[in-house]
Amino acid sequence: SKLSLWGGRFTGGPADALAELSRSTHFDWRLALHDIAGSRAHARVLRTAGLLSDEDLSTMLASLDQLAADVESGDFLPAPGDEDVHTALERGLIERAGPDVGGRLRAGRSRNDQIATLGRMYLREHARTVAGLVLDVVDALVAQAQRHPSVAMPGRTHLQHAQPVLLAHHLLAHGWPLLRDVERLRDWDRRAALSPYGSGALAGSSLGLDPEAVAADLGFDGAVENSIDGTASRDVVAEFAFVTAMISVDLSRIAEEVILWATKEFGFITLDDSFSTGSSIMPQKKNPDVAELARGKAGRLVGNLGGLLTTLKGLPLAYNRDLQEDKEPVFDSIDTLEVLLPAFSGMVDTMAFNTERLESLAPQGFSLATDIAEWLVRQGVPFRIAHEVAGECVRVCESRGIELWDLSDDDLAGISEHLTPDVREVLTVEGSLASRDAKGGTAPTRVAEQLERVVAASNDA
Ligand code: ARG
Repeated sequence: SKLSLWGGRFTGGPADALAELSRSTHFDWRLALHDIAGSRAHARVLRTAGLLSDEDLSTMLASLDQLAADVESGDFLPAPGDEDVHTALERGLIERAGPDVGGRLRAGRSRNDQIATLGRMYLREHARTVAGLVLDVVDALVAQAQRHPSVAMPGRTHLQHAQPVLLAHHLLAHGWPLLRDVERLRDWDRRAALSPYGSGALAGSSLGLDPEAVAADLGFDGAVENSIDGTASRDVVAEFAFVTAMISVDLSRIAEEVILWATKEFGFITLDDSFSTGSSIMPQKKNPDVAELARGKAGRLVGNLGGLLTTLKGLPLAYNRDLQEDKEPVFDSIDTLEVLLPAFSGMVDTMAFNTERLESLAPQGFSLATDIAEWLVRQGVPFRIAHEVAGECVRVCESRGIELWDLSDDDLAGISEHLTPDVREVLTVEGSLASRDAKGGTAPTRVAEQLERVVAASNDA
């Protein structure tokens, strides 16, 4: 009945409008099996504390197994009168174990410590799934880098041609943030690995139940230090929302480039048919929908983080019902990423690079001007002057509509006495790339080493 959880001091049930508002089974039902796992662990500590007989415990565990099977098969579902997953499962347990045994399980626990624990269990599982899917994107970037070890492309700042870089270097630059995201998930897990079970409503339990035993039973590293913190804090949930939002933002930055690269104007890539869409009216169209959806979904995940933080802001200790609102944002972020990531890695893995175009654009836009300046510095010219001389070269070329390597020996000497014909050795893309050979640079030898380190990091992650 509507009175089942708190009937004693009430004379009637909640108004329908309240029940409607209060109900969370449509989103917390996905925690049902975690709740049952928590109930098994709780039943065992009740037994250890002498609050259940051996016989009660085996009836309870058998009924919980039956309930779990019925949940999995869909034979047991939340009813309209069940407020949340915990209420529904308590009803299910009592139906199976009888009110006498079934009614003993709630001793020493509260939905406040239950939900905080189940939420962490669920997020920890999905953190592993998401991390694996993020690593698939890293692998796809690595595969593309391996396919194009020596292709140059225009490197950009402010979206303007800046300096030539290796395509592999650029692709790996998208891999590192994703590897850090995986590291963030792993680091987050250390904080999520403490179980709030045993915190009760807020003050802990008087029944001699061992929170560490429950924690170990549920795969946690230990129990929380403070029962108020255990039931009232959600920073661990918010941090998860941040890391997943960061993943979506990192994907979105790749996506934006894919969208640009696939345009006629850039012409850097062709998306595979299996990861592009057509138009219902324009027969020629091939659209980068995977990338656009990635860019769009990032807004959604950032919103989930913002919404959750706003819910938490200003909440007094300890549990407040507002905290029921912590689940939908992170569930949505998980669902979104688990659908998006496989499509995203497929898109990255199958896109074809127009390497001739990338190579031919690499030196354009005077992207070798810095190489002139740095060559001059190696000849002993102060950088301030070198920068000015190289700028003068660009100005002359621009006014004549020619490229830097078209300047004659006389042109060079006319611009600066320091500009001997030897400067031409750096006026090629190969020379420019090869010269940037310190750690982290775009020289092919360095990028090859970097590639090995990305592969190692991805295998270790
Ligand atoms: N369903 C609630 C939540 O998601 C847990 C129930 C706690 N309710 C309560 N009245 N103390 O946070």
